[in-house]
Amino acid sequence: MSSSVFARCSQKYVPMPVIDLPDRQWPGRALSRAPIWLSTDLRDGNQSLMEPMSAARKLALFQLLCTLGFKEIEVGFPAASQVEFDFVRALIEQQHIPPEVTIQALTQARAPLIERTLVALTGARRAIVHLYIATSPQFRQTVFQMSRQSVLETALAAVRQVRAYAEAHPETEWLLEFSPETFNATEADFSLEICNAVTACWGISAARPVILNLPATVETHMPNRYADQIEWMHRRLAQREHVVLSVHPHNDRGTAVAAAELALLAGADRVEGCLFGQGERTGNVDLLTLALNCVTQGIDPGLDFSDLDTVIRSCTELTGIPVHPRHPYAGELVYTAFSGSHQDAIKKGFAAQIAGDPWQIPYLPIDPRDVGRSYAAVIRVNSQSGKGGIAYLLETAYGLALPRRLQIDFAQVVQRALDTAEREMDAATLWSLFKQTYCQTETPIALTDLRWQPEAAGMRVWLVRHQGSQHAPLQGQGNGHIAALIDALDEPMRLVSYEEHARGTGAEAEAVATISLRWDDDPTEWFGVGIDTDIVTASVQAVNAALNRYYTAR
Ligand code: KIV
Ligand code: ZN
Repeated sequence: MSSSVFARCSQKYVPMPVIDLPDRQWPGRALSRAPIWLSTDLRDGNQSLMEPMSAARKLALFQLLCTLGFKEIEVGFPAASQVEFDFVRALIEQQHIPPEVTIQALTQARAPLIERTLVALTGARRAIVHLYIATSPQFRQTVFQMSRQSVLETALAAVRQVRAYAEAHPETEWLLEFSPETFNATEADFSLEICNAVTACWGISAARPVILNLPATVETHMPNRYADQIEWMHRRLAQREHVVLSVHPHNDRGTAVAAAELALLAGADRVEGCLFGQGERTGNVDLLTLALNCVTQGIDPGLDFSDLDTVIRSCTELTGIPVHPRHPYAGELVYTAFSGSHQDAIKKGFAAQIAGDPWQIPYLPIDPRDVGRSYAAVIRVNSQSGKGGIAYLLETAYGLALPRRLQIDFAQVVQRALDTAEREMDAATLWSLFKQTYCQTETPIALTDLRWQPEAAGMRVWLVRHQGSQHAPLQGQGNGHIAALIDALDEPMRLVSYEEHARGTGAEAEAVATISLRWDDDPTEWFGVGIDTDIVTASVQAVNAALNRYYTAR
């Protein structure tokens, strides 16, 4: 038997009743275009801040939203405070509203609040009056103590008031949005009844469309159930062709994005939400995530998030709320792989990706460059990382293409360093550790004064080997430079591998030579790397460095 405090939760919490829609269509559909977006950052988002934004901040956010491409923006709740009212007036009177943008203002279905809202919006070229009243049994019974009928009549009285004002002020193009607040917790038949009554009362037609916004005011159930509710309404609403069907999911269960996407499959045309999921409690649906989800499906969202860091900086500054490092698409860490196997796959993905072809990089659902991020942070190295990530960083930052066995060898060196340091290692630190490990040509042994002479059989070399106080002149012969040098060194070892590649291009190009040696009494492969504009010098450095690696370790 469970001893958890939740053992009795079935008596305390009651699941939402399931809507009956056995022939639901949405599971078989696919999204083919982006919805109409409504940003409520300046209203629902602002209402949720510990310190609501000042008029100056609201204006800055309004301008950012316009720049991002929002065409419908809920600018406030003008009847709620003088600041809100004045802000809407300033937008209109100081002509801050671009011609392609329509502002929206929220009001409860109460006559004095409606009046104040309408006054606030007067003079706008186009304005959406967003009328709401809660419709769920909980609100009717506990909060309002109103019957269904009186909730319906209150809504209709509100619509009539807006309509009369609109007719008296034809200089503004007035649009009506109606939200049965707590729609997701309302009986379906009542939602339908009140929505149809509202649209009829407004005189809905092709010339007088109505936005019906069906909010998940508090997210109470799974996204598939919300989608069923939306499809049920979508199939039954009167004059559906003149209705803009809108959704407004909150994120209490953490599934607002899924709820919005499934609702779009179920027939919704429009989504209300906030950037980064701002909003009451756990927030409104995150419009940035929804928009970039569209991008990953090949759908142009009509919003421009190509400079995400500027958006993050501005929003953080204006709202005082930081963006989580793991926030979808926006977080500081979301394009970063620390895990070795992920790094390996990403590295291979980048190598295989052909410019202009569909994006195919493992673990990266979107090209970081599409949102203004660079590839620099894609792979970062810590104790979870492996050879792939290390090699990737050295290759992208320093142009080193390490042979596979050297990658494995260096990964062990890095791992030992990280075990001591217990933190991340950036490319510069890796590079300096790499040089210290594989490019050491001074101690304990230095090879100097090399002279080469081609011979019929290959190459002859003279050099001096310095080790401590000893300075030994050496001479050797072989079928090439390296063979001659190894012969001169006269060590009980042999060359295991030799690879070279160019680093950089044109006059700046350098040769990178990688060598490995094996001593007779030791199974270890000792690597050395030389980098120089001259390939012979690079090879000599590589042999020298491999010698030093062997002697240092013994
Ligand atoms: O969450 C909600 O239901 C609302 C309404 C006012 C639309 O914000
Ligand atoms: Zn809301």
